[in-house]
Amino acid sequence: MTSDYPNTLDCSARSTSQGGAAPLVSVRGLLKTFPGRRVLGRATAPVRAVDGVDLELAAGETLGLVGESGCGKSTTGRMLVRLLEPTAGTVEFEGRDITHMSPRELRPARRHLQIIFQDPHASLNPRQTVARIIAEPLLVQGATVRAARERAAELLDLVGLGEEHLDRHPYQFSGGQAQRIGIARALATGPRLIVADEPVSALDVSVQAQVVNLMARLRAELGLSFLFIAHDLSVVKRVCDRVAVMYLGRVVEIGDKRDLYDSPAHPYTRALLSAVPLPDPAAERRRERILLLGDPPSPAAPPSGCGFHPRCPKAQAVCRTERPLLQVVGSGARTAACHFPETD
Ligand SMILES: Nc1ncnc2c1ncn2[C@@H]1O[C@H](COP(=O)(O)OP(=O)(O)O)[C@@H](O)[C@H]1O
Ligand code: SF4
Ligand SMILES: [Mg+2]
Repeated sequence: MTSDYPNTLDCSARSTSQGGAAPLVSVRGLLKTFPGRRVLGRATAPVRAVDGVDLELAAGETLGLVGESGCGKSTTGRMLVRLLEPTAGTVEFEGRDITHMSPRELRPARRHLQIIFQDPHASLNPRQTVARIIAEPLLVQGATVRAARERAAELLDLVGLGEEHLDRHPYQFSGGQAQRIGIARALATGPRLIVADEPVSALDVSVQAQVVNLMARLRAELGLSFLFIAHDLSVVKRVCDRVAVMYLGRVVEIGDKRDLYDSPAHPYTRALLSAVPLPDPAAERRRERILLLGDPPSPAAPPSGCGFHPRCPKAQAVCRTERPLLQVVGSGARTAACHFPETD
């Protein structure tokens, strides 16, 4: 079968090295502010959705991005693939600054930057056939109709659906199948980075594992990089190399998955992890849940000092006045933004 597009199964040209090589994507000082709303004729304060995020992703690496709803995960992900333009900071893809590129300038990079959305049915055009949905990004990039259809069939096969589904419409699929179609669409142009924005949160628990396993397999087979967004730490465990924890628009802890799960340094990471059920029944009986008081503060009026201090069981006076910066904790490449990190 011939195709005008690089075969996503051929990852031989892609580096999967995670140490030393230049990062695939690098963001520095990323900031996104949304204007406040007008309430009774008065403007509310602007929302600092993302408030100074630095991240790097190596080729072939999967970084998990976790945190409660509203902490800025989707906004960060959208800026990484330039669906949103940052208010400040820079996004570099393969060493090129794409932060403020026009749609035309961005076109060559666009096929390498894809996104999978949380709600598969809402993100698929109900009037289009599966063939058309998957082929669309290829047609935009200049493929012939025939080549695009052949590629769509290939991709359906890759995500575990047969080519007999090509002429069906999204409503004829379950949530898990629709998400497989969303994944096939994201893979169509042979991307190097996929932002998966809570790709299983809207699915039944019984099919979540299947879709997570599919993404883990694709990642291994295709050498893709993923930013895998989730609101809890249990989902990212299966697929990620490193994990970043966000709170109120900032990364509060980032590091190797094993370090972070075995000995979380930030009190917020500890609280998130304490909510994850353990597979070993004895350990599960011993598990102590750390209950966080109240809801996260509004990003339009963040607390002074450490943004987590109103809910933190370890907060002291300095936490109310001085903002903690990310600093190395322990011997690994892990950093946490806390004046009193756990170091066990
Ligand atoms: N287009 C927008 N206009 C105004 N506020 C927004 C917009 N998108 C997101 N926000 C706000 O920015 C904050 C972060 O949102 P989001 O990135 O969607 O968080 P998450 O994905 O972690 O749930 C939230 O307070 C949200 O209400
Ligand atoms: S800096 Fe203080 S308030 Fe913030 S997480 Fe650390 S101990 Fe808690
Ligand atoms: Mg979101």
